[in-house]
Amino acid sequence: MSPSLQSAQALAAKTLRHGGIEMAALDARALLKTATGLSFEALITNGREPIGPRCERRFQDYIERRLSGEPVSRIRGTREFYGRDFRIDPHTLDPRPDTETLIVAALDLVGRENLLGHALRLLDLGTGSGCILVTLLAELPEATGVGVDRCPGALRVARDNALALGVADRARFVAANWFEGLAGRYDIVVSNPPYIASAEIDGLAPEVARHDPRTALDGGADGLDAYRRIADGAARFLDPGGSLLVEVGCTQMRAVTEIFRKERLLVADNGVQTDLGGHPRCICAKSS
Ligand SMILES: C[S@@+](CC[C@H](N)C(=O)[O-])C[C@H]1O[C@@H](n2cnc3c(N)ncnc32)[C@H](O)[C@@H]1O
Repeated sequence: MSPSLQSAQALAAKTLRHGGIEMAALDARALLKTATGLSFEALITNGREPIGPRCERRFQDYIERRLSGEPVSRIRGTREFYGRDFRIDPHTLDPRPDTETLIVAALDLVGRENLLGHALRLLDLGTGSGCILVTLLAELPEATGVGVDRCPGALRVARDNALALGVADRARFVAANWFEGLAGRYDIVVSNPPYIASAEIDGLAPEVARHDPRTALDGGADGLDAYRRIADGAARFLDPGGSLLVEVGCTQMRAVTEIFRKERLLVADNGVQTDLGGHPRCICAKSS
């Protein structure tokens, strides 16, 4: 007979702890939820029920994958971002909590500039799972937006997320190399581009280096290639007075600000937003 849900969870937590997994208990619970399809509440209420052979096999497989370093979100195929669940797959970056800083900055900007309720046109460069564009469209019900990525697999996931989160009728997804082939003007351009220096990628934590797609990480020799491309194109695609918001790596604020200044994109004194760890994480520039 298969063990109860409770004891399967306890045993898995112990196994993960012994395997050096820091958040062993939380990870075991999250993976049990996915393996059984039960909610957190149902797992508590039905804790003495047997897990059943099929769920047990699935749960064991998940625990083995976790032990080998695969992140919980990758195993589950979803990641919560700004309070909503986004599907992810091997084509997409696993969205990071740091990127919510960009969402906060964009929504602050919309409030500060009295743009709430306006039919804003948004452009998200390197949309990946679509987490930035879809979140902004969900928060700004009058806005429309375009999500660009050069990875067709990521665009399929982004479309699915837009559909699941009820914004597909205001979102369009385009396979392109940054601005190439795009037309039109936008009020706000957002991007969390690849920004890791190529030589540093193999030294990242295995959770990142082995599971996030390299094209989502690799920012070229100094990590800044994408910022140069984006700064170069922004003026042609932003309306005068429009805004460009980008996420940056925690040591890149000065270098990216300098790239923007050279392209006559103005970074105001209050144009840098820090993340919860206190690192400069998002730069907001205005087109002149
Ligand atoms: C750091 S990920 C960000 C994904 C998502 N926006 C997020 O914040 O989770 C960067 C994204 O840029 C895309 N990308 C890389 N090079 C690109 C290029 N030349 N043109 C368009 N997208 C590109 C990658 O495929 C990846 O999805």
